[in-house]
Amino acid sequence: MKKRLFYLLLFSLTGLMSCRDKNVSSDTWPLEALIVPTGVQADSLPDPMSRGAILLGKYCSQCHGTPSPASHNSSDWVPVFRRMILMMERSNSMGMMGGRMMGNRMMGGGMMGMMRGSEVPDQEEQQELLKYLQSHALISIQKEELPDAQSEGAELFSKDCSKCHALPDPSKHLSTEWPAVISRMRQHMVQLKMDNLSDQEADEILNYLEQNAGEALKK
Ligand code: HEC
Ligand code: HEC
Repeated sequence: MKKRLFYLLLFSLTGLMSCRDKNVSSDTWPLEALIVPTGVQADSLPDPMSRGAILLGKYCSQCHGTPSPASHNSSDWVPVFRRMILMMERSNSMGMMGGRMMGNRMMGGGMMGMMRGSEVPDQEEQQELLKYLQSHALISIQKEELPDAQSEGAELFSKDCSKCHALPDPSKHLSTEWPAVISRMRQHMVQLKMDNLSDQEADEILNYLEQNAGEALKK
């Protein structure tokens, strides 16, 4: 317990000093190096009036934007969720000291902003949250199960589209929907300062997805 606090403090101080040295704002360092959800609008969450969505808005936007449940597939959510609960618990052991020590300059955001105390969901709320995340999770596929798995399109798709989450299942969108999904993903890459797709790569991936897209259900 004491030891943990010590490392957290050490970490925070190192962060603080580096900010000064490089004269960069605490808002851009060191968060830039991490993958942090930029967030979705609360009312664009699936099933926005459900308890899960409300809990997500309450607990999961304390340090970063409200994450979309589609950011991960159902099984990947388990370890990510556990890490986030840990993060909230740790932020509390830093809470008072961290907050005061860092003063106002850290309050705007950034890692130190995160180190302020945050509310932690109780056991029952945690179950509800995880259930919500998993029931609206990304639907993924194994690379070997991809249609035309050996094709260049499949290769490119599986390389570029599994960097932030598991490989999405091409059949889960209509061919008319994929273009918008791809351009949203390119925005995520820009926001997270990742190498983006060239237009040619994006076209190739789109072609592959359109060819293997789902079909509208005829009722
Ligand atoms: C106490 C602050 C804090 C809270 C509260 C918090 N997070 Fe995070 N989150 C972080 C930090 C720091 C990172 C970046 C480092 C990391 O990924 O471990 C992060 C990153 C993420 C990422 C991107 C990284 C990845 O593995 O995909 C997702 C998704 C995420 N959080 C979801 C959630 C969810 C869901 C909740 C609510 C259950 C939540 N967060 C609550 C601090 C927090
Ligand atoms: C920079 C990180 C990142 C990369 C790279 C990335 N995604 Fe995503 N993806 C996300 C995030 C964040 C979400 C959840 C928010 C959202 O849906 O926009 C998501 C969600 C999804 C979803 C589920 C939501 C939906 O609309 O069905 C699909 C499908 C998807 N991505 C496809 C792709 C494809 C195809 C590629 C490759 C072109 C890709 N992703 C590359 C970050 C990324």
